[in-house]
Amino acid sequence: MLILSIESSCDESSAALIENGRLLAVETRTQTVHQPYGGVVPELAGRSHLELMDAVVQTVARQAGTALTDVDLFAATAGPGLVGSLLVGISYARGLATALEKRFRAVHHLEAHLWSAELSAGELPPPFLVLLASGGHTLLVLVSGVRNYHVLGSTRDDALGEAYDKVGKLLGLPFPAGAEVDRLAAEGDGTRFAFPVSMNDASADFSFSGLKTAVAYRVRRMSNREIREQTSDLLASFQAAALASVLLKVELAMRVSGARAVVAAGGVAANSQLRLRLGNLAAEWGVPCFFPQLQFCGDNAAMIGYLAWKLETAGIRDGGPQPVRPRWPLELLGAGDATP
Ligand code: KG4
Ligand code: ZN
Repeated sequence: MLILSIESSCDESSAALIENGRLLAVETRTQTVHQPYGGVVPELAGRSHLELMDAVVQTVARQAGTALTDVDLFAATAGPGLVGSLLVGISYARGLATALEKRFRAVHHLEAHLWSAELSAGELPPPFLVLLASGGHTLLVLVSGVRNYHVLGSTRDDALGEAYDKVGKLLGLPFPAGAEVDRLAAEGDGTRFAFPVSMNDASADFSFSGLKTAVAYRVRRMSNREIREQTSDLLASFQAAALASVLLKVELAMRVSGARAVVAAGGVAANSQLRLRLGNLAAEWGVPCFFPQLQFCGDNAAMIGYLAWKLETAGIRDGGPQPVRPRWPLELLGAGDATP
C-alpha cells in the first residue's frame, strides 16, 4: 500500500511517501516567517502552508520516483493544531484523493508522535511508556497497542518545549529556542543557579510555568553584562531543573505502569541531555529506551503516513468525513473510530 501523507498542524509543512510501512521519501520545511514574533502567528502559518504545500508534495514524488496516480491512500493531520493550517493540509490531501478517486484518511497528530520511534527502531514491545514533549504538548502515555492508550499525566500549564522557548526568549534567543538552549546549556554550569524542581508530588502531571517565572525573576536582578556572561549557566540551570522534574515523573509512571520500554517523542525528544538522562534511567530500570531519529522528533509527515499504515493494517476504519479538530484530546480516540 502506497500512502502520501501531509502534516500541517503548526509551523512545519511536510509531505511523505510510505510504502507498506517503509519510508520512501519525506520533505519537511520549517516556516521561518514566525521568527521575528517570538511564537507561531496562526494567520502567517496558514498562508505559508498554502505556499509550501505543492512544493513539498512534488518533492517527495520526485525523490521516490512515484506518480501521484500510484498512491493508494492520501492521509493528513486533522488535529489537534491551528485550524487554518490544518485546513490547508486536509483540503490538499482530500482534493488529491477525490480527483484521483482514491481513499483519504484523517490522522491524529499526537497519536502519530506516539508511534514515531518505530520509523527507525521497528516494532516496539508493548506496553511502552511515551514521554511526548513538544512546543504545544507534554504527556506521559502508556501505549499497550494500537488505539490502546492511557494518559498517565500531562502538563497543567506550559508545555516543556514552550518553557524552553520562553526562557530562550528571555535571554534573547530567536524562536524556536529549544535547540539553541540545548547547545548553549552544554557549555554552562547547571548547578550555578538553584531553580525550583516543580510538581515534586505524587501525580504524574507536569508544571513548568513556575520554573520559567523563577528564571525571569532571577534575570531581572542581573545587569546586562552579567546576563551576557552567564547565559549558558542560566540555561544549564534551567534545563537541570526542568529535566529533573521530567525524570521524576517518568520514574513515577514507570513504577505504576509496568512499562517494558521507555520512548521519547516530539520536538523536545531531540534534546541531548534528555536523551542521555532518559537512557540512563531506562538502563536503571533494565528496560530499553527508544528515540525517533532527530528528523522525526519534530513535526513531520513521515509519522503521519506511518500511523495511517498502522491503522490500515490493524483494520481500524477511518471516521469518515469530518472537519478539522483544533482540539482533539488523545483520550477521545475510540477503538475502531477516528471520530469520537
Ligand atoms: O514537535 P514540534 O516540532 O512542534 C510542536 O508540535 O510543538 O516541537 C517543537 C518544540 C519547540 O518548542 C522547540 O523549541 C523544541 O521542540 N525543541 C527542543 C529541541 N529541539 C526542538 N527543545 C529542547 N531541546 C532541543 N534540542
Ligand atoms: Zn507535534
